[in-house]
Amino acid sequence: MIAPHGGRLVNRVVEVGERDRLLGLAPKLPKLILNAREMADVDMIAVGAMSPLEGFMGKADYDAVLATRRLKNGLPWTVPIVLAVKPGDDAAKYKEGSDVALETQDGQLLAILHVDSKWKMDKGDEARKVLRTDDKAHPGVGYLDSIGDTYLGGRMSVVNRLKYEKYNNRRLDPVETRALFKHKGWKTVAAFQTRNPIHRAHEYLTKVALEVVDGLMLHPLMGETKSDDVPADVRMQCYEALLAGYYPKDRTALAVYPQAMRYGGPSEAVLHAICRKNYGVTHFLVGRDHAGVGKYYGSYDAQKIFDEYTPAEVGINLLKFENSFWCKRTGGMASTKSSPATAEERVELSGTQVREMLRAGTIPPVEFTRPEIAQILINAMKGK
Ligand code: ADX
Repeated sequence: MIAPHGGRLVNRVVEVGERDRLLGLAPKLPKLILNAREMADVDMIAVGAMSPLEGFMGKADYDAVLATRRLKNGLPWTVPIVLAVKPGDDAAKYKEGSDVALETQDGQLLAILHVDSKWKMDKGDEARKVLRTDDKAHPGVGYLDSIGDTYLGGRMSVVNRLKYEKYNNRRLDPVETRALFKHKGWKTVAAFQTRNPIHRAHEYLTKVALEVVDGLMLHPLMGETKSDDVPADVRMQCYEALLAGYYPKDRTALAVYPQAMRYGGPSEAVLHAICRKNYGVTHFLVGRDHAGVGKYYGSYDAQKIFDEYTPAEVGINLLKFENSFWCKRTGGMASTKSSPATAEERVELSGTQVREMLRAGTIPPVEFTRPEIAQILINAMKGK
């Protein structure tokens, strides 16, 4: 089984006795109400999905990530996993060397943060270094703009797992995906990250992967996404329908990736790959403009960034894909790597074109999307 990032799968969920002690302590502590991104981060850190992190990053790791795209111990890491004091909240009540109770928006205690680091961050600097832009129209920059500017870091003791309302049967922790792969006898497993319905181009990448690995885990990101992305529950219907109709059952799995989207393109691609390694995956797909938004990143920047590290440091095999499309000349899915097709010979539709067709109740060409998927999207739009 592939080693987690840093060699050890972190577990920050406390044992029963310690849990009782912390539950008694929590009401006396200053509390901090987490937003959706932070809640997902807590729950992923709890079970080692973000190994080797044992809590929110402290200043030394944060500075190292921004300056070197590595943690202070040298391990590749690109995206700060941080906790901000709420805007307008008095940061003085959170002290280095003391504990803070981390709660959900509806008052559920999740974890105790043992604060060992507290600092004022520079939003512009973080945006430019991590997101490669400080344009406020970028959703990741917009997020930074919305939070406070004091970060708290430290190890975490998790007393309650985050409760989710949906897809609980699809929520597998790293120990569970690792057990699943073992049970299925998959020595090599490719994970596919997506925040969209799966269209033919996406499907093609996963099918190419399936030709060379033992199993495929569709691992759609189900944390917070921007408001104009297709909602998670609609996407889940699409994934289930697609797997049922077009994939061999015994060679695929579908599990939720709970993280929130950062829209960080290259930085986020590295985060996505490293976290999938923690889930026990051996291969990770990175295609065109992975985790991108608008025109902020070059089409293959999210592939090039991995050249900054040795393959051993990354520790997961990358399956890199060129822009894929239905090729009229060869009569199949292809990419610029495998087909001589001219631009006119490719069936490619922009996101805007697809949305317009679906809104009008028109099923896009079968070369672009499976009709069942289009129908689910059309129904969801009608429901609005
Ligand atoms: S992402 O934000 O999760 O990257 P999306 O769900 O669209 O967005 O993409 C999932 C994966 O498929 C990413 O690795 C992306 O690079 C890849 N991808 C999407 N469309 C194409 C395409 N037409 N050709 C090649 N790769 C693609």
